[in-house]
Amino acid sequence: MSSTLYLASLVFLALAPMTIAVPVEQDTFTATKQCVELEVSVPVNVTTYDYNIPRVDSNIDAAHWTVNYTTWSARDDTLARDKKVLVNSTFAINAQLCVPPNGAPKADILQIATQGRGFDKRYWDVEIRPEEYSYLDAAINKGYSVLTFDMIGTGKSSKPNAYTTIQLEVEVEILAALTELARNGNLIKSSKVLSATSDEVAVTNFQPSQVVHIGHSYGSFVMAGMLQKYGSISDGAILTGFYLTNQLGTIDVGHFNHEFARDHDPQRFGAYESGYIVLTSESTLQELFLRKDGFEPELLTYLEAIKQPEGVGLYPSGDSAMLLPADDFTGPVMFFAGEFDYPGCHGDCRGIYNETLSRGLFPSAIDPKPYLQPNTGHAMTFATNASAGYEVIMHYLDCHGL
Ligand SMILES: *[C@@H]1O[C@H](CO)[C@@H](O)[C@H](O)[C@H]1NC(C)=O
Ligand SMILES: *[C@@H]1O[C@H](CO)[C@@H](O)[C@H](O)[C@H]1NC(C)=O
Ligand SMILES: *[C@@H]1O[C@H](CO)[C@@H](O)[C@H](O)[C@H]1NC(C)=O
Ligand SMILES: *[C@@H]1O[C@H](CO)[C@@H](O)[C@H](O)[C@H]1NC(C)=O
Ligand SMILES: *[C@@H]1O[C@H](CO)[C@@H](O)[C@H](O)[C@H]1NC(C)=O
Repeated sequence: MSSTLYLASLVFLALAPMTIAVPVEQDTFTATKQCVELEVSVPVNVTTYDYNIPRVDSNIDAAHWTVNYTTWSARDDTLARDKKVLVNSTFAINAQLCVPPNGAPKADILQIATQGRGFDKRYWDVEIRPEEYSYLDAAINKGYSVLTFDMIGTGKSSKPNAYTTIQLEVEVEILAALTELARNGNLIKSSKVLSATSDEVAVTNFQPSQVVHIGHSYGSFVMAGMLQKYGSISDGAILTGFYLTNQLGTIDVGHFNHEFARDHDPQRFGAYESGYIVLTSESTLQELFLRKDGFEPELLTYLEAIKQPEGVGLYPSGDSAMLLPADDFTGPVMFFAGEFDYPGCHGDCRGIYNETLSRGLFPSAIDPKPYLQPNTGHAMTFATNASAGYEVIMHYLDCHGL
């Protein structure tokens, strides 16, 4: 698999206090979600790698990093595998657990959502017309519980070393740890509750009977990495913005402009240190995430307003997710992509899904299912007709008893 995958990650930033539920008119069932915002302490002890990444401390460095990373002769990440770094720290992860009203049909099924690069957890809970765009609200309205979180280096979570700590191996451990805490009913106990919409008691003893993982883009890579290592902790996997084709990885980061986050916007990103970059403009966000006539301009403005920095260490480490089969994952798996995903499929996903690649990565999964969402780019939650796509995803889960 190519070394220069650019998988946009949307991290849903938990800047917002608990989102107050905006109940959506449904046929019969109007869900009012209850949410708690948590700071979860997650200890991690894992090996990462010292890739030979040029330092990024200015906009000039950021442009140079892009060129260096995409120069054909510059990178041999296999060499870095000799230069190990031990990451042995506890991270503060800002997370949000939402549960549907009592008696909802799937309240004991927890969906854990992991967004891609460039986003925080708001990727899953778009605040503009949430009845159309919020995946979180759509899942709650189907009666699921949902856990979202800011990946390290985004939102309100820890912002560690961008070179050696912001790497896939660390993200995998964090996702696995959050999953274990939830499965064992220890999530709330292990967290500081920062705020709550209402009756926090309803979630205090929350313990799901089943866990479904959903990812977007880089978040799908993190999921794939987790399922390779800990396949049995998931009952179902939805990988979005991650379509297994021979075009995967052919659009690299050289197509998208980044600047040094702190210089790009000192007010928003003043807390970000060396090695954190951010997408520069609405134009570059559009190229990466959206399809003309498949999004409302207001959503592009919103996307610019909530975009998040990326640690440069993500880039070389992300590729490693493609290497091994997830032998122990035996649940259903869906590959859901926008029909015209630019970074995912080099602009056109039609007719190129590669079953050999899918079987190679998920040899034990049941019913691997590719699905293309019409007239949609890379970021499904920002696309017109998003909610019809959510129906497809949740119908697939429902068909598998989830
Ligand atoms: C951390 O991982 C290393 C290598 O896997 C292991 O030897 C060590 O015991 C672990 N330390 C802790 C505190 O878990
Ligand atoms: C890329 O950056 C690394 C680290 O600074 C450096 O060792 C390498 O020579 C650079 N490659 C090119 C082609 O500039
Ligand atoms: C890892 O962290 C733990 C807890 O802080 C500490 O006790 C241990 O010595 C550390 N291990 C290494 C190898 O640094
Ligand atoms: C699927 O991918 C494999 C591995 O890259 C390749 O050998 C094969 O030719 C591809 N099949 C199709 C139909 O593109
Ligand atoms: C909206 O999405 C649904 C589900 O994928 C699809 O069946 C429908 O054709 C889409 N509508 C348009 C106008 O693209």
